[in-house]
Amino acid sequence: MLSNQAGDEKRKSLHGHWSSRMAFVLAVTGSAVGLGNIWKFPYIAGQNGGGAFVLVYLVCVVVIGMPVMMSEILIGRRGRRNPVATMELLGKEEGHSGKWRLVGSLGVLAGILILSYYSVIAGWTLAYIVKSASGVFAGASAEAVEAQFNSFVGDWRLIGLCHTVFMALAVFVVARGVERGLEQAVRFMVPALLFLMIVLLVYSMNSGYFGEGVAFMFTPDFDKLTWNSVLAALGQAFFTLSIGMGAIMAYGAYLPEETSITGSSAAVVIADTSIAILAGLAIFPLVFANNLDPADGPGLVFDTLPLAFGQMAGGVFFSTIFFVLLSFAAWTSAIGLMEPAVAWIVERFSKTRAQATVMIGFTIWFIGWGSVLSFNVLSDVTFLAGTIFDNVDYLTSNIMLPLGGLLIVIFAGWVMARNSTADELHSSGSLFKAWRVLARFVAPVGILLVLINAVL
Ligand code: PHE
Repeated sequence: MLSNQAGDEKRKSLHGHWSSRMAFVLAVTGSAVGLGNIWKFPYIAGQNGGGAFVLVYLVCVVVIGMPVMMSEILIGRRGRRNPVATMELLGKEEGHSGKWRLVGSLGVLAGILILSYYSVIAGWTLAYIVKSASGVFAGASAEAVEAQFNSFVGDWRLIGLCHTVFMALAVFVVARGVERGLEQAVRFMVPALLFLMIVLLVYSMNSGYFGEGVAFMFTPDFDKLTWNSVLAALGQAFFTLSIGMGAIMAYGAYLPEETSITGSSAAVVIADTSIAILAGLAIFPLVFANNLDPADGPGLVFDTLPLAFGQMAGGVFFSTIFFVLLSFAAWTSAIGLMEPAVAWIVERFSKTRAQATVMIGFTIWFIGWGSVLSFNVLSDVTFLAGTIFDNVDYLTSNIMLPLGGLLIVIFAGWVMARNSTADELHSSGSLFKAWRVLARFVAPVGILLVLINAVL
C-alpha cells in the first residue's frame, strides 16, 4: 500500500528545486506575465465591449483563479512529479483512482496546443524589435502602422520564420533546466516591463483621450454581456494566470517545503492583474485618440503601441526595448507551457531533458503552422470559432483550461483529504477555510455554470 506522504521522508523532484521562495515567485510570475496580459487582454476586452467584461474577468481572477492556482501548487508540491504522474500518484494515495492522471494529460495537450499559436504571436514581437529599431514607426501615421502590420502578417514565410526562431529560443532554455537562466531573466524582466508600461501610461494619459479609455474599461454595460463573453472572461483569467493546464503544478513540484503557497499565489495574482490593467489603460486611450476600432482583434497592440512610441521623444529606443521585454515575457511563459510535456516525457520515457525538449518543441512548431497560415494563405478557411488560429485559441482558453481547472479544484477540494491540503497550505485557520469554500463550492459551481451556459 502506498503510505501517506506526511510523516515519512518528503519527496524530492527529479528535476531540481527552486533556490528560494523568491525564485519560485519570479518563475511563476514569469510564466503568468506574458502575451496574455499585453497582447490578449486588451484585444479580448475590446472585442467583448470593455467594462462588463473587465469586471467579470476580475471577479474570475479572485474567486476562481486564486483558489485554482493554490490547488495546483499544493498538488504539484505534494506529488513532486510531472502533472500526469502527480495526479496518478495522489489519486491513488488519497484512496481514489489513478485515472486522475488524465487531468495531467489534458494539461500536457493544452500546453502543446497553446504554445503552437503563442509562439506565432511571440514571433511577431521578435520582428517588431527589428522594425522598431529600424525606425519605421518614427512619426508614422495610424494608417501607416496598420499597413505595416497587415503586410507583415500577410507574409507567411516571414511570420513562419519568426515562429521558428521563437520556438528555437524556447527549446534552448527549457533544455537547460529549471533553474539556470530562467530566474535571472525574470528578475530583470518583470520590473523593467512594469516600468515601460508606466511610461506608456503617462503618454496615453496625455493623449487627450484617457477619460474615454478609462470609461471604456471600467463602465460596465451589462447589455453587452453574453454568456460567450463571460466564458471569454473566464478563459482569459485562466490563460493569463497560466492555470488549468499543469504549468503551475509542474512549477509547484520544484517548490521547497516551507514556502507559503497562499502568499506566493497572492503575489503572482496581483502582479499579473496589475500588468494587464496597465496595458489596457495604456492602449485604449490610444485606440480612441486615433479612431481605431477596440474590436480590432489580435493586431490591436501592434497597431497602437508602435504608433504611440513613434510620436514620443526617444520613441525608437523605447519601442525597441518594449518589444524586447515583451519577447522576454513571452519566452518565460513559453517555458511554462512546455514544462508539463517535457517533464512527462523525461519521467515516463526516460529521455534526457534535451531530447524531450527537442521532441516536444518540434511537435509544437509543426502544429504552429496552422496558426501561421491563418493570417494569410488560409485566412478564408473558417469554421466554428473562425480561422484555425481562432479555433485553437477558443478550444484551449475557453474549454480546456476551465475544464482542467474544474477538475483540479474538485480534486483538491473533494478528493484530497482535508488534512492533506491543510498540511500543504500550512494552516487550518480562516485562510484555509476560505480557500476550501472557494475550491469546493464557489470555483466549481462558477466554472460549470459558465461552461454550460456558453457552450450548450
Ligand atoms: N499566462 C501566459 C500569458 O499570459 C500564458 C500561459 C498560459 C503560460 C498557460 C503558461 C501556461 O501570456
